[in-house]
Amino acid sequence: MLSAVERKIEQFVSDLNDKEVSALYTKLPHGKRLRAKLILKIAGSSLSVVKTAAIVEMIHAASLLHDDVIDDAYTRRNKPSINALYGNKTAIMLGDILYSKGFFELNNISPEISKIVSNAVIQLSLGELKDVSLSKTFNLDKNIYLEMIYQKTASLIEASAGAAAVLAGKPKDAYMTYGRNLGLAFQMIDDLLDITSDSATLGKPALHDFVEGKTTLPYIYLYEELDDAGKTKLRSLHAKVLHENEQAWILEEMREHQIIEKSYFEAKELIDEAIDLMNTHGEEALSGIAKEMIERDF
Ligand code: FPP
Ligand code: MG
Repeated sequence: MLSAVERKIEQFVSDLNDKEVSALYTKLPHGKRLRAKLILKIAGSSLSVVKTAAIVEMIHAASLLHDDVIDDAYTRRNKPSINALYGNKTAIMLGDILYSKGFFELNNISPEISKIVSNAVIQLSLGELKDVSLSKTFNLDKNIYLEMIYQKTASLIEASAGAAAVLAGKPKDAYMTYGRNLGLAFQMIDDLLDITSDSATLGKPALHDFVEGKTTLPYIYLYEELDDAGKTKLRSLHAKVLHENEQAWILEEMREHQIIEKSYFEAKELIDEAIDLMNTHGEEALSGIAKEMIERDF
């Protein structure tokens, strides 16, 4: 029923009655629609469910439009990003338009759904700000990293699961925990892919995060394992454009200390916990979507 969500988003966009926005929307790569899939899997496909899924995907698309401006990212899902094609101003405004329309439509669902989703948007905005601020420092605190990815990414996935549970009359808290774990694991894998994928697969250069100043989980773990000279060297490379040999050094140290495996294991544990929790609620069908979060191209 994902196509119903796609049609609903198209309808919301065409309601705006603006040719430029409709044309820009066609340039937006869709992605996997994981949040919509999650909502439909939990709550079926009634009109309110489809609308909620469409709204969440519009908010998510808006956040990525802004994120690509913030991150100076010129590709998204292997295609040129909107900021690359039309500049930052257009990307920001298209984000604002999709976000506001989503919010407008949210008012037509229910106050409870509205509250869950709008609170997540506050969190994801706070999380993105934290991501930007942290990238100006060499953060080595895992808890700070986890809090940031919870806000930036997991909050909207948690809200998707929670809103779907409310719509389906299922226990909200358990589904929110499931969504939270999925979201944390999803961002951990995203951060791993920045290291393991080549630029062609990921649509952005490898180690882009570290160059941008982001010390994601693998860098935190790597720093813990390095000797003093290694620690000094890693620190000196932070937030700089890396030469080929510096990139190779980081990758080699990660390999030697099994950093990718360690980080992947942490994401996998969150996923296993989420699957177990849903199994206790008789929701075996929700394990597939959990696995999809971590089984991405390495
Ligand atoms: C991707 O992170 C970014 C997010 C998941 C959230 C971004 C949120 C905002 C810009 C706030 C938006 C606010 C409103 C009101 C819509 P990433 O850069 O680590 O992931 P990437 O690899 O996909 O770029
Ligand atoms: Mg980004």
